Amino acid sequence: MGLGTVVITGAAGTIGSAARTALRDDADRLVLLDRVPIQAETAAEEVHNVDLRDAAAVESALSGADVVLHLGGVPDEAPLGDLLDANVLGTHHVLEAARRAGSRRVVLASSNRVAGFYPVAHRTDPQEPVRPDGLYGVSKAAVEALGRLYADKFGLPIICLRIGSYEEVPTEPRHLATWLSPRDAVGYIRAALTAPASLRFATAYAVSANTRRFWELPDESVLAYTPVDNAETYAPHIADAELPADSSAPQAGPYALPEFTLKHVCS
Ligand SMILES: NC(=O)c1ccc[n+]([C@@H]2O[C@H](COP(=O)([O-])OP(=O)(O)OC[C@H]3O[C@@H](n4cnc5c(N)ncnc54)[C@H](O)[C@@H]3O)[C@@H](O)[C@H]2O)c1
Repeated sequence: MGLGTVVITGAAGTIGSAARTALRDDADRLVLLDRVPIQAETAAEEVHNVDLRDAAAVESALSGADVVLHLGGVPDEAPLGDLLDANVLGTHHVLEAARRAGSRRVVLASSNRVAGFYPVAHRTDPQEPVRPDGLYGVSKAAVEALGRLYADKFGLPIICLRIGSYEEVPTEPRHLATWLSPRDAVGYIRAALTAPASLRFATAYAVSANTRRFWELPDESVLAYTPVDNAETYAPHIADAELPADSSAPQAGPYALPEFTLKHVCS
């Protein structure tokens, strides 16, 4: 208890399902929104089968929202039209609905892929300019910009979490830098939802305390959470974990390759 009415968009998804379970005890009312049907599992849960592109339906679902965790959207490379619809327009609808509801905090799911072209040797700070590794990253840069706009113009408190690679365990060499464990994901999400309203806007990487990480951990004055997991523990089980990394290669690895984006571009 304590967070009041908590809205989770994308509640049927991977991270949304984990957040739903984790936040059950923090919320008085848990409003779950997704375009795919969800079944309520407790008396405190309320489900809304809503497409984020439908502004009126999003506004109705967010009515009375104290805090909003916006995870819904297309989570990977796709045609730009699809990304603009679900991620950019969808986020605009969520922010506008939260503004009208008088929400005290909105947490937006951004991605490490807004800056995947920084080289492996570079420790990226979220204040640095974006360097998207594809169209998905461009859509998340727009999500962050919308958040900044709503914070600056309307005073809506926003935190953008640049999520790393959310996996039960790291399974490939890149994960040794980018892994976000389920436990740390919940820690970051809870810290962001409970941040003081005086924190009007922040962008922070949500990544585990990986020895090889590419990104600065959030300052505790921004986000009161210190990650506890480290992908290095799993390195002995990952093939090629000890091959020397090309320090000038993009952090995004294969996602930065032209063909990864070109397969989604109309000819
Ligand atoms: N999983 C990761 O490693 C990772 C990394 C970086 C960022 N993120 C971001 O975190 C968020 C959650 O990721 P996830 O892995 O749980 O993704 P997911 O695909 O499992 O969940 C996304 C959910 O959003 C819903 N959705 C998509 N379009 C919608 C629409 N138009 N209207 C309503 N609902 C819609 C889907 O039905 C799905 O349930 C996404 O915004 C993603 O971009 C995830």
